[in-house]
Amino acid sequence: MRFIISSLLIVAAALSGAAFFVSCTPEKTTAPVKRTEQERFANGEYMTRMAGCNDCHTAGYPEAGGNIPIEKWLTGSPLGWHGPWGTTYASNLRLLMSSMTEEEWIHLAKNTKWMPPMPWWILHDMKESDLADMHYFVKSLGPAGEPMPEYLPPNQTPEGPYIDFPSDKE
Ligand code: HEC
Repeated sequence: MRFIISSLLIVAAALSGAAFFVSCTPEKTTAPVKRTEQERFANGEYMTRMAGCNDCHTAGYPEAGGNIPIEKWLTGSPLGWHGPWGTTYASNLRLLMSSMTEEEWIHLAKNTKWMPPMPWWILHDMKESDLADMHYFVKSLGPAGEPMPEYLPPNQTPEGPYIDFPSDKE
């Protein structure tokens, strides 16, 4: 019995020693892995493709089954989205993002709630490193295209083509 107790004590002492050792080991560093420019570009393109940004921000993208050359991506669409909020247009992100620093872009993407049908929650949920790569990708493509029409308040009918959203009030 005595032998068992003393062995248990030894085991306990060994365990607490191990715990002490573990708690003293320096924390594993989580420094970001340095990636090449090609990797950042490729991931930025992948994130843009997968997050569906082109579906609205690239004219004709859904109609073409996504078969639109990368040079034309995100140049905006003049198709209006008309609903109780008024009429919104998926803006030209090539002009916008080319004029912003990476920090400005991440701050905008993480903190803004845009009007429908812009899925702003996707940008809030996206990892900062992916947002940074997306910015790198779009900025590398450079500015292109024209600015899209301005937002219209609810009481105005858009002149160009638009999609009407159903509303409880109408
Ligand atoms: C379903 C259509 C749709 C999709 C998909 C979409 N957007 Fe938008 N986006 C819009 C519309 C419409 C607006 C304008 C909203 C407004 O005026 O408040 C907008 C606005 C924006 C703005 C503000 C632009 C400015 O000029 O201030 C940014 C940035 C943006 N979108 C980025 C993205 C990104 C990045 C993705 C992909 C993750 C994406 N959007 C996906 C429709 C869409």
